[in-house]
Amino acid sequence: MGLQSSTEYEFERAFVRKALTRPVVMVGMMGAGKSQIGRRLAHELTLEFLDSDALIEQRAGMSVTEIFERHGEAKFRESEFNAISAVCDRGALVLATGGGALTNPKLLEILQEKTIMIWLKADLENLERRLKFSQKRPLLASGDPKTILADLMAKREALYGRSHIHIDTLEHSPGGTVKTCIKSLYAFLNDGKFEA
Ligand code: S3P
Repeated sequence: MGLQSSTEYEFERAFVRKALTRPVVMVGMMGAGKSQIGRRLAHELTLEFLDSDALIEQRAGMSVTEIFERHGEAKFRESEFNAISAVCDRGALVLATGGGALTNPKLLEILQEKTIMIWLKADLENLERRLKFSQKRPLLASGDPKTILADLMAKREALYGRSHIHIDTLEHSPGGTVKTCIKSLYAFLNDGKFEA
C-alpha cells in the first residue's frame, strides 16, 4: 500500500471506528472465514469480538456438535436466535455468525434493521478445501461434504445476498479482506442512506 493510500486507509479506519454505533455482523457459508476475518476486523477497529457459536457453546456448556447430537438442529437454531438477537442492541462490536443463522427469517429481519451485515463470499472449491479436516461441522457429517455444501449454498445464497455489504474473499488475502471490510464500511456509512 503506497503512502497516500495508507493515509487514506487510516482516515477511513478512524472514521468507521468513530461513526459506528451498531454491530458489524459477518455472515456467509461455513468455511468462508467469518470468525478469522471478524476477529481481525474487531482488532483493527479496537472493538469487542463475539462469535455466536462460542456464545451458544458457553451457554449450553457443550459443543455445537453435541447440541446437534443430543438436542437436534431445531434446538440449536433456537439458541442461535437467542444468542444473536441479544447482541444486536449492544452498540458497536463485531459478531461472527454461524452459516445457518439467516435461515431464520425473523433473525434476518432483525439483523437487517439493527446491524451492518457483511457477506463473506467464497466458492465451493475453496469452502470444501478449508473444511476438509473439520470435525466441528455436524451438518457435513451426514454425507458427501461437497454435495451438502453445494446444496446449502444454493439454498442460502439469496439470504446472504440481503446483506448490506458483499465481499469476495477470493480476491484478497485475509489481511486484504479485513481492509476491504473497512473500506466498504466507510463507503456504506458515507452514502447518506444509512444512519449508523
Ligand atoms: C452451521 C454453521 C456452523 C455452526 C453449525 C451450523 C450451518 O458455523 O453454526 O455447525 O448451518 O451452516 P460456521 O459457519 O462458523 O461453521
